[in-house]
Amino acid sequence: MEQDALLNHLQGNENLLKAIGLCGPGGQTDRRKAKKLREVAGFCEIILTYVGRSLAGQECVRVVEFSCGKSYLGIVLVLLLRDLLQKEAELVGVDVNADLVAKCHRIAASLGLEKARFVAGRTLEFRSDAGFDLAVALHACDTATDEAIAKGIQLGVPLILTVPCCQNQIRGQIKSGHPLTAMTEFGPIRYRLANLLTDVLRAQFLHSAGYHVEMLEISSPRLTPKNLCICARKVKRALRPGRDRGYKMLRSFFDVRPKVERFCPGVLSEGEG
Ligand SMILES: C[S@@+](CC[C@H](N)C(=O)[O-])C[C@H]1O[C@@H](n2cnc3c(N)ncnc32)[C@H](O)[C@@H]1O
Repeated sequence: MEQDALLNHLQGNENLLKAIGLCGPGGQTDRRKAKKLREVAGFCEIILTYVGRSLAGQECVRVVEFSCGKSYLGIVLVLLLRDLLQKEAELVGVDVNADLVAKCHRIAASLGLEKARFVAGRTLEFRSDAGFDLAVALHACDTATDEAIAKGIQLGVPLILTVPCCQNQIRGQIKSGHPLTAMTEFGPIRYRLANLLTDVLRAQFLHSAGYHVEMLEISSPRLTPKNLCICARKVKRALRPGRDRGYKMLRSFFDVRPKVERFCPGVLSEGEG
């Protein structure tokens, strides 16, 4: 379903929007809520496409949402999977903020979502014996996105889709001396390049871990500059030697050490490469 149609579908479900707080008790909305709803709809459009392609034969989709906050994304996704793809969904939301987790429980109960549960804790420390088909994270701040990617890989989740925000870690690491210093001497350019580099390194890391990776946009950059979606689908064939070449090349070009590799040891081969 196209993004506008999906948005209309969600806007027609006032109960849902009231429960998750994306409209007020009288149905009123504001710019911030409308923006969040568009972001969620844009991300869901991409997720549903992936589910349709990769999990077509499954009646039930097991979803884990990292850094879920109030779980706008996870809860909307469960309902869209049911309404549009006729699939059951089990949802586990994880957030370090226990108050938000308690709120998520109340919201899910008010919507009758019996197969949704929420866990208070850091993504990196999340443990589960259950398998998942899909891991998602929307605007998990800074290295929380790296935790989501690392945890998705460690749990062997076949689809990992993240829309990152506030990529601070690499910006502070880019020093002078790399081959593109003529670009990074300008503040806003250094900022943009660091953001791009952070997300490309994440994509290359997923590639190194045996995923096919695409970068898509959940919305127009005019709605939000935090609109890049890193979409990773686990490839079934055996890992090829040298699959981490792109990651290592970028890492040494800028002499940076992304957090994701520390969060997920064992993915990269020995040696600089
Ligand atoms: C910007 S909010 C996004 C929330 C939600 N995904 C959304 O789009 O509305 C970031 C969330 O990440 C949570 N968070 C930050 N670091 C985390 C970590 N390491 N593990 C789990 N949750 C984390 C925060 O508590 C916060 O709820």
